Amino acid sequence: MSFQLSGSAPEIYENTMVPLWFGRWAETLLNSVSLETGETVLDVACGTGVTTRIAKRDVGSDGRVTGLDINAGMLAKARELAADMDIIWIESDVIETGLPEDSFNAVISQHGYHYFPDQPAALREFHRVLAPSGRIAMSIWDGHSAYTKALCSAVEKFISPEIAKKQRGQRETPSADRLIESVSEAGFRNVTVARQELAIQVPLATEFVPLHLGSMPIANAFQSLPNEEKEALIADVSDTLRGSVVGDQIVYPDAVNVVIGWK
Ligand SMILES: C[S@@+](CC[C@H](N)C(=O)[O-])C[C@H]1O[C@@H](n2cnc3c(N)ncnc32)[C@H](O)[C@@H]1O
Repeated sequence: MSFQLSGSAPEIYENTMVPLWFGRWAETLLNSVSLETGETVLDVACGTGVTTRIAKRDVGSDGRVTGLDINAGMLAKARELAADMDIIWIESDVIETGLPEDSFNAVISQHGYHYFPDQPAALREFHRVLAPSGRIAMSIWDGHSAYTKALCSAVEKFISPEIAKKQRGQRETPSADRLIESVSEAGFRNVTVARQELAIQVPLATEFVPLHLGSMPIANAFQSLPNEEKEALIADVSDTLRGSVVGDQIVYPDAVNVVIGWK
């Protein structure tokens, strides 16, 4: 399973998904890692840079922040949004960063880990680039939410089981125990996981589902459906979630596991 966006998807991701989802989780991740003024930070799988920008705010002008991602489109958006911020951007896979060892006080990553094809190698690389006593802080979905379950079921009915499998994979994440095991195996100590839950509010399905799917790797499969099939898919999501509608929004709980470990 992968997360690779192209065309207008990084733009939609930044304009829609960052304010509704990723920006809110970014604040909780950065609160957990407690960056200090002057620290050096590597943000891996930084996407359009929401966590990278907050990290730079937290470490201040004396701190050094690097955002790394494999996707050129996401990084182009990140660079544009942080044009006046002193942030270094690197286009690279997480396992071959080419960065010097012992060079960061913190490695952070939000919703990237479960996409890495070789997670043990990625964790070893994070350990290598961290300075002694540095920490890793990664935020990873705690499985599906009511909304993502409803969406995947509608995608299965109106697009295909194969496309639904890809979409479901976005939330097929390791358990808290598995995370602790994997991060410890990579050499980190005092590894802990904290589950964080937020009440997520998104626009009604008619507005939100096309925007959300437009920012996903399966965007083309949705966009090439005939209009009546698109409408039926959206109506199916609305119907499943009718108990979660509050005014003109869908409101539902969602959760992440934040794993922290020390070198
Ligand atoms: C769901 S996005 C999260 C982006 C950002 N951290 C955020 O919270 O908005 C996942 C990101 O992981 C990146 N990614 C996936 N596999 C990667 C890899 N092997 N190396 C580097 N980045 C990767 C994708 O390009 C994408 O930007």
